[in-house]
Amino acid sequence: MVVVERKMQPLPPPERRRVVRFVVFMAVSLLALFCWALVNSRINVAMPYSAFVMRDVDKTPAFTGLEDRQRHPAGDPAWTSAAPQAVPVTSNVTAGSVKLGDPVLREPLAGEAERERSERCDADSAALRVYMYDLPAEFHFGMLGWERKGKLAWPDVRDAHAAPHYPGGLNLQHSVAYWLTLDILSSALPPGSDVVRDRPCVAVRVTNASLANVFFVPFFASLSYNRHSKLRRGERVSRNRVLQAELVKYLMRKEEWRRWGGKNHLIVPHHPNSLMEARKKLSAAMFVLSDFGRYSPDVANLKKDVIAPYKHVLRSLGDGDSPSFEQRPILAYFQGAIHRKAGGKVRQKLYHLLKDERDVHFTYGSVRQNGIRRATAGMSTSKFCLNIAGDTPSSNRLFDAIVSHCVPVIISDDIELPFEDMLDYSEFCVFVRSADAAKKGFLLRLLRGISREEWTKMWMRLKKVTHHFEYQYPSRSGDAVQMTWSAVARKMHSVQLQLHKRARFHRTVSV
Ligand SMILES: *[C@@H]1O[C@H](CO)[C@@H](O)[C@H](O)[C@H]1NC(C)=O
Ligand SMILES: *[C@@H]1O[C@H](CO)[C@@H](O)[C@H](O)[C@H]1NC(C)=O
Repeated sequence: MVVVERKMQPLPPPERRRVVRFVVFMAVSLLALFCWALVNSRINVAMPYSAFVMRDVDKTPAFTGLEDRQRHPAGDPAWTSAAPQAVPVTSNVTAGSVKLGDPVLREPLAGEAERERSERCDADSAALRVYMYDLPAEFHFGMLGWERKGKLAWPDVRDAHAAPHYPGGLNLQHSVAYWLTLDILSSALPPGSDVVRDRPCVAVRVTNASLANVFFVPFFASLSYNRHSKLRRGERVSRNRVLQAELVKYLMRKEEWRRWGGKNHLIVPHHPNSLMEARKKLSAAMFVLSDFGRYSPDVANLKKDVIAPYKHVLRSLGDGDSPSFEQRPILAYFQGAIHRKAGGKVRQKLYHLLKDERDVHFTYGSVRQNGIRRATAGMSTSKFCLNIAGDTPSSNRLFDAIVSHCVPVIISDDIELPFEDMLDYSEFCVFVRSADAAKKGFLLRLLRGISREEWTKMWMRLKKVTHHFEYQYPSRSGDAVQMTWSAVARKMHSVQLQLHKRARFHRTVSV
């Protein structure tokens, strides 16, 4: 009887079994929910901007944390790996070399083995190891109409023609951040891809932050200024300001920023008015600028920052179709606004000194008003092109003159020139102090005194250096993209010296 009872006990009545099953089910569900919540909170910590993105004024369908969460249910590994920043794209260190870039871009293609044999550009061979923050699309390609799709935090750059296009016209002058971003994205492509076939190995993207020697902040600050400065209906703060404020918040929370106080970070506010609200807070970083005209010396200076050229508006002359000395009947060419504030007074003076000279072209109006074609014709039929300080020390005009092989005459005492540690501008430019230029007869006497031979030497040199001022994708050896990366690499040496010195005593807390 006892035996029978014992045998009976392990089998509870059916209703109790149902209760047990229910309890187990509840426990498993709760555990799953807890795991999901944990993952979620981690990601929110890693992506502080997500809140901003969700309440953002613009309802662009670009990346929002909310959207992705809806598309990918809880715990979906595809979603977690798609979240920017939460998980590095790939962090794969193999035998001292880093596999770069987005795994999606590393699909095996035909001839992989052959490519492995060709020269690799990796963290070991590049001068600059660049870690790029996966900022939400609103900060970069989202402004060009690109939308984040699924896992991809960045556009596919394998096909140069398919990459998002920057808006044309005068916007292009300050498109430096765009070209740098495209180039660094392409550094993660396998070596056989068309766009990287001739890509020089100056900068390479690393996805492991501890391997980086520079942290690139891919904010298209100039375009944000061009496009989003004006208040739109219903906005109390312009989008340009909102983006800057969010960028500051984003960076201040980053461990990498805090560890080095932002010193090894790279930001590209090339337009003189861009990043106006955030520049002071982010001033520890290295900036890529057009000049220092609108910066106070403690925010930007040549010790820490890099000057990059404007993207020229005029078409470059080919080597073969560049008019020579005799084919350029105009002695000196200037086109621009005559009346300028601040440093631009010399323009007005020169206008009065030169306006009646027969072989001098000195006119009002911007390139836009007068047409690109006329400006091209003017510069390419002039021996000298005047670059006179306006309301900023630099202008696009210098680079239009260079690609027109019109010897620049620089009358701007405070101008900073791109890559001047690599290029001796006196070989292809004439520099005149503002005070001298304002003297009656001085400028014309100087220019007329330059012989055909001397001019031709400068013209030959111009033709040689023009490619240093080309922004393009894919980038080529020695172009403006590569020159800028090299300049950053050189400047980073001194930043690193500072950082290493500062680290000397990190083991000993001061007594
Ligand atoms: C990143 O690089 C460091 C230094 O080489 C290494 O110790 C670390 O494991 C790497 N991290 C990842 C996620 O691969
Ligand atoms: C690197 O990637 C390869 C293949 O994708 C993998 O087998 C290996 O375990 C990875 N190594 C590390 C350190 O993540």
